[in-house]
Amino acid sequence: MITSIFTYFLLLFLVHLFSNGFISLQASEFVSYSTNFTTCWEIERNALLKFKEGLQDPSGRLSSWVGNYCCTWSGVGCDRQTGHVTKLDLGMPPISFKINDPKAFDFPSLQGTISPSLLDLKYLYYLDLSWNNFEQTPIPNFIGSFTKLEHLDLSYAYFSGLVPPHLGNLSNLRYLDLSSQNLDQDTLVSDLSWIHGLSSLELLRLKMANLSFASTSWLQAINKLPSLMELDLSFCGLHEIPTSLPILNFSSIQIIHLSLNHFNSPLPGWLFNISSLVELDLSSNGFTGQITPSVQNLNNMRDLVLHENDLSGPLPISIGNLSSLETLFLSSNQLNGTIPKTIGQLKKLIMLALSSNNWGGVVSRIHFLHLNNMKVFLLSSIKEKSLVFDVGYDWIPPFSLNLIFIKNCQMNSKFPIWLQTQKELKIVELIEVGISGYVPDWFWKLSPQMETLSLHNNKLCGELPRSLQFHPHSLVDLSFNLFEGPVPLFSGVNMLSLKNNSLSGPIPANFVNAMLHLAFMDLSENYFNGSIPSSINKLEKLQVLLLENNELSGKIPSMNRLNKLWTLDLSNNNLFGNIPCSLCSQSPLIHLKLNGNNFYGKLSSLRNCTNLGTLGLANNQFHGGIPRWIGETLSCLSILQLRGNMFRGKIPKSLCSLPLLHVMDLGQNNFSGSIPPCLGNLSSLYQSKNDTSVFAAVATDAVATNVITIATTVATIVTGGKEGVVAAAIAFEGLMPLIDEMRDMEFNVKGQTLEFVKIIDLVNLIDLSSNNLEGEIPEEIMKLSALGTLNLSRNQLTGNIPEKIGDLQLLETLDLSVNHLSAMRCAVST
Ligand SMILES: *[C@@H]1O[C@H](CO)[C@@H](O)[C@H](O)[C@H]1NC(C)=O
Ligand SMILES: *[C@@H]1O[C@H](CO)[C@@H](O)[C@H](O)[C@H]1NC(C)=O
Ligand SMILES: *[C@@H]1O[C@H](CO)[C@@H](O)[C@H](O)[C@H]1NC(C)=O
Ligand SMILES: *[C@@H]1O[C@H](CO)[C@@H](O)[C@H](O)[C@H]1NC(C)=O
Ligand SMILES: *[C@@H]1O[C@H](CO)[C@@H](O)[C@H](O)[C@H]1NC(C)=O
Ligand SMILES: *[C@@H]1O[C@H](CO)[C@@H](O)[C@H](O)[C@H]1NC(C)=O
Ligand SMILES: *[C@@H]1O[C@H](CO)[C@@H](O)[C@H](O)[C@H]1NC(C)=O
Ligand SMILES: *[C@@H]1O[C@H](CO)[C@@H](O)[C@H](O)[C@H]1NC(C)=O
Ligand SMILES: *[C@@H]1O[C@H](CO)[C@@H](O)[C@H](O)[C@H]1NC(C)=O
Ligand SMILES: *[C@@H]1O[C@H](CO)[C@@H](O)[C@H](O)[C@H]1NC(C)=O
Ligand SMILES: *[C@@H]1O[C@H](CO)[C@@H](O)[C@H](O)[C@H]1NC(C)=O
Ligand SMILES: *[C@@H]1O[C@H](CO)[C@@H](O)[C@H](O)[C@H]1NC(C)=O
Repeated sequence: MITSIFTYFLLLFLVHLFSNGFISLQASEFVSYSTNFTTCWEIERNALLKFKEGLQDPSGRLSSWVGNYCCTWSGVGCDRQTGHVTKLDLGMPPISFKINDPKAFDFPSLQGTISPSLLDLKYLYYLDLSWNNFEQTPIPNFIGSFTKLEHLDLSYAYFSGLVPPHLGNLSNLRYLDLSSQNLDQDTLVSDLSWIHGLSSLELLRLKMANLSFASTSWLQAINKLPSLMELDLSFCGLHEIPTSLPILNFSSIQIIHLSLNHFNSPLPGWLFNISSLVELDLSSNGFTGQITPSVQNLNNMRDLVLHENDLSGPLPISIGNLSSLETLFLSSNQLNGTIPKTIGQLKKLIMLALSSNNWGGVVSRIHFLHLNNMKVFLLSSIKEKSLVFDVGYDWIPPFSLNLIFIKNCQMNSKFPIWLQTQKELKIVELIEVGISGYVPDWFWKLSPQMETLSLHNNKLCGELPRSLQFHPHSLVDLSFNLFEGPVPLFSGVNMLSLKNNSLSGPIPANFVNAMLHLAFMDLSENYFNGSIPSSINKLEKLQVLLLENNELSGKIPSMNRLNKLWTLDLSNNNLFGNIPCSLCSQSPLIHLKLNGNNFYGKLSSLRNCTNLGTLGLANNQFHGGIPRWIGETLSCLSILQLRGNMFRGKIPKSLCSLPLLHVMDLGQNNFSGSIPPCLGNLSSLYQSKNDTSVFAAVATDAVATNVITIATTVATIVTGGKEGVVAAAIAFEGLMPLIDEMRDMEFNVKGQTLEFVKIIDLVNLIDLSSNNLEGEIPEEIMKLSALGTLNLSRNQLTGNIPEKIGDLQLLETLDLSVNHLSAMRCAVST
């Protein structure tokens, strides 16, 4: 579930950002052919000038639009014989794919509205206004009057509203792209009834246009287009597709993209009967049923993209007959049985993605027999220990991979030596595959080209190389192994997890210098000792710092330069001293966990941490009262752990006004007075768990940057210009272990570019045990119908156990022991 939501948003993001770019690059192979006309038709020149007047052109793209020779103006093309303007190409695709560069999409667009003066260009056959900004205005009706138009590209140009049916008059149109980039703003909405008039249409792209009220008729409309070669209705809100289509008019269709709709129906068999098909993308649609290609009909199939559906049953043996296949993308379905050996016959295969299915059986050398061209390979089974990957120790594979992802699959061997033949690896993820022993030196030598390395959850041991250079912005996850020795210095790394190994010794000051780009650093669950180096303050990109469960000592150094830090976990070390005031002076700290140390002093240094959602101070040496401002200023607080300190005084009423508080652990202190009845106002404890399931938007630039790096890599590997990008997005499953680490973090960071949605399993708890609380148990607490744990034991409480305690329907643990409570009186009726 998490994976699929994650992937969904990732796809959203990628679809949004760059799969389209490839198309536009193709579409814009516009050659500005100059003509020998020294003048142009005045009426047309005036039309163009009027059109220019309606536009803002901050970057001067139309600066050549002066003087008489309109045929030489940039973006204008004229007929050689007649001198009439026939072509207007003002599309502006992104020039580069430096996705990491936030300015990559800051290309100079024209802005404004389209003047009807253009209608004077009566000979126009080519109109491209893509990637400009028409400010959410509707596509003008008069576009339907360019009767000679053959090529119309209005994609990604911020049009919104109804697509005018007048476009159906463009009977000469061969190319129509109205793809939209508006994800949640005003979308371009259309039914397709107007489309039947476009009898010459060869290409139709309406990606991300809202066709949600087109029901099944969309297909009937499109089936009237006998010349159609390419159809892209991805992400259009479609929800119905007929299971059979008696007459197939698509005799020449080569490309069908219907990903990211909501069909939730059996896979339509007729799609697999179209012999001309070269690319079929049905990903992320909830399709059910089995894959049963009539495969003799699919000789031309090059890309078969079916990931993120609910397809079940086995993969047919006949898959091996799809001899043109380059991409086979079946990840994230329910496919079961053994993977057919015939896959090894697919000589042209470049990408084979079989991850996240219910596979069983053995994958052996035969599966790869003729896969000489394979660059990307993903394999995993959802079922525990059901799949064995056994290619033998001395295998020399026929391919040279860029990406290998194998997860939850039994390799049960030493580090696979056959990887030594793979000289072009950029992404290596061998997660939970049961490999053990040392990582050989030749493998570490690949680090400079490595963008992602995950060996998470294996039994690898030995010392890590002291220092390695990785590819810039890379992700390295060696968590849950048996590595020992000192902390390694991995430069270039953006995200590093060494969690749960047997690494030891101090974290040296120069660690920081080697790894200045770290955004995510997890050294938790090791045996690191010594103090946290003060140089940590130089890691200005750091967002997440996890050092819990080590043997670190000393004080928390200044972190006043870490202005992106939102998670800091130093729990269960031997740290001491005050919480430094600087902690929140710059950073938007959301999770602060200092449990299980020897911290003491006042909490006032946290006063500026107004974004705190988690505050874990349990099992330290704090004393004094809980300051009132905690309830008044930390309004995002959802987890408050103060157990095992020497706090005293009354429980302040202000805590009752924290709307998100659902874990309140004040046990083992010296609180006195009575239990505030206003605890019954803790709103997140009286809504049902179902209602409060928090869909937390989780975003970190670190993750985003890495995702994007991988995306770019995979894109370059897979694409060759086609839309493998969306397809390749699934490769990010490898990031899941790291993202899972953030599982119990819930927060909502605004203004980030990429959102990961996670469902947080909420624990609902009030623990006031082992204090000096007296008085009665307030009746009001019985309103907290979502409470899972209530522990009031070991206090001085008196009176009766409230009768309404039975109202706490979700209560799993109740402890009222060691108090002075009377048994509940039975209601006696006479
Ligand atoms: C027309 O222009 C092209 C290049 O712009 C030139 O090569 C060609 O000689 C010209 N033809 C005439 C007839 O001027
Ligand atoms: C163009 O299409 C519109 C709407 O479909 C229609 O009302 C109009 O008559 C058509 N115009 C011409 C010239 O065919
Ligand atoms: C699509 O359009 C319909 C009809 O205008 C509207 O009800 C629906 O909310 C739109 N969907 C999206 C995702 O914008
Ligand atoms: C097939 O295409 C032709 C020509 O456009 C059209 O007349 C016919 O109705 C179409 N058939 C179906 C079933 O839509
Ligand atoms: C596929 O085509 C064959 C004949 O070409 C036909 O018998 C069969 O019913 C078709 N299957 C589907 C699902 O349309
Ligand atoms: C499919 O391939 C198998 C060999 O793997 C072959 O025996 C069979 O004839 C092929 N079927 C078709 C329809 O080409
Ligand atoms: C595969 O799943 C189907 C249900 O979708 C089940 O009937 C079948 O027994 C499973 N096969 C194997 C080999 O697990
Ligand atoms: C690693 O995890 C295991 C299982 O959760 C745990 O028993 C072990 O103590 C952890 N290792 C360290 C060094 O914390
Ligand atoms: C850290 O642990 C090592 C043993 O692993 C020990 O020799 C060293 O003295 C410790 N250093 C500190 C500062 O505790
Ligand atoms: C909190 O912020 C205010 C103003 O930004 C500053 O004057 C004060 O010193 C800060 N307090 C702490 C404890 O950091
Ligand atoms: C707890 O607080 C009471 C006063 O409320 C005090 O008398 C007692 O000594 C405190 N106990 C401890 C262990 O600090
Ligand atoms: C949660 O609410 C939905 C409807 O809002 C309901 O269908 C579902 O059964 C509920 N789940 C639980 C666990 O109560």
